[in-house]
Amino acid sequence: MRYFSKVTDLGDLQSALQEALEIKNNRFKYVELGKNKTLLMVFFNSSLRTRLSTQKAAMNLGMNVIVLDVNQGAWKLETERGVIMDGDKSEHLLEAIPVMGCYCDVIGVRSFARLKDRDYDYAETVFNQFVKYSGRPVFAMETATVHPLQAFADLITIEEYKEAKRPKVVLTWAPHPKALPQAVPNSFAEWMNAADVDFVITHPEGYELDPAFVGDAVVEYDQRKALEGADFVYAKNWSCPGVTNLADYGQVLSKDMKWTIDEEHMSWTNDAHFMHCLPVRRNMIVTDDVIEGPRSLVIPEAANREISATVVLKRILEDLK
Ligand code: CP
Repeated sequence: MRYFSKVTDLGDLQSALQEALEIKNNRFKYVELGKNKTLLMVFFNSSLRTRLSTQKAAMNLGMNVIVLDVNQGAWKLETERGVIMDGDKSEHLLEAIPVMGCYCDVIGVRSFARLKDRDYDYAETVFNQFVKYSGRPVFAMETATVHPLQAFADLITIEEYKEAKRPKVVLTWAPHPKALPQAVPNSFAEWMNAADVDFVITHPEGYELDPAFVGDAVVEYDQRKALEGADFVYAKNWSCPGVTNLADYGQVLSKDMKWTIDEEHMSWTNDAHFMHCLPVRRNMIVTDDVIEGPRSLVIPEAANREISATVVLKRILEDLK
C-alpha cells in the first residue's frame, strides 16, 4: 500500500480486520519492519489522539518519528499557486513538501477542511499535493474530507463489541457551537457501507452528507425512528456539507439540543453502545451520564487508534521500495 485515505486502499476489509485483531494481541510482532525507517507526521491542525496513537504505532513497528507542527515553529506556508508572496507567508508548500520528503520514508498528513470553498476542500487540495510532490507514501491523519484511521478504529471496536452477527449502527448528527468538518462522518459512513452492518444515518434536513459517502445507507430524518433498535449509536456533529444548498457549505444550520444524546435517546435503542471519536463537547453532543455509562465505548475507540495505525503503517512499510 502506498497511499491510505479510503477503505478500498486496504483491499479485503475482513482480512484487514483480522490483521488488526492479531496485531492487538501482539503489537510488537513486526518491530523489525520499520528499522531505520522514518515517519514524518505533519500537522496543520491540533490533535491529541492521532498524534499519540500514530507515533505509538510507528514505535510498535520500530520506526523513528518526526512530528512537525506547521503552525508552531515552521515557516508560514502558502498553499495556493500563482499567489504573489508579499504577505506573511515565507515558504510555498510546493517547495516545503519535497523538502519534507527528503528527511523521511513515510508521511502522515493532518489538514482539515477550511469550510469556505466546497470544491477546494472536496478536491483534497493539500493532501493531494503531498501525494504528488513528496515522493513518499502518504496517509491521511484527517484531511479535508476523510478520517480513515478513525473509521478503521471504530470498525475494529464494533467488531469487538458486537453482540449480533449483523448489528444496526446509527450515525446521528448532534449539536455543537462551532462549524466542524465532515471528515469523520464521511469516513464513518464509507466504512460502515463496506462493513457487515445495517447502517442508518440521521440528521436535521440540510445536513445531507455527500452521496459518495452515504452510499447505500438509509437516511432517516426522524432521529427517534432511526435510533429504534440500534446496537451502536455513533454521535458526531458536522457543518452543512452543501449538498442541497451549496451556499450553506460549512455553515451551522442548527444547534437544536433535542438532538443531544441523553439517557432518553439511548432508551429507544437496543441497549446500544455509545460511540464518539473524541474530542467531544459534553452536554452538547452527549450527556455526562451517557458518555460515562457502562455502554460507552469512547475510550476503547481511542485505544484502537493505535491498532488501526499499526496495520496501516505495517502495510505501507511492507510495500516500501
Ligand atoms: N479523534 C481524533 O482524531 O482525535 P484528535 O483530533 O485528538 O487527533
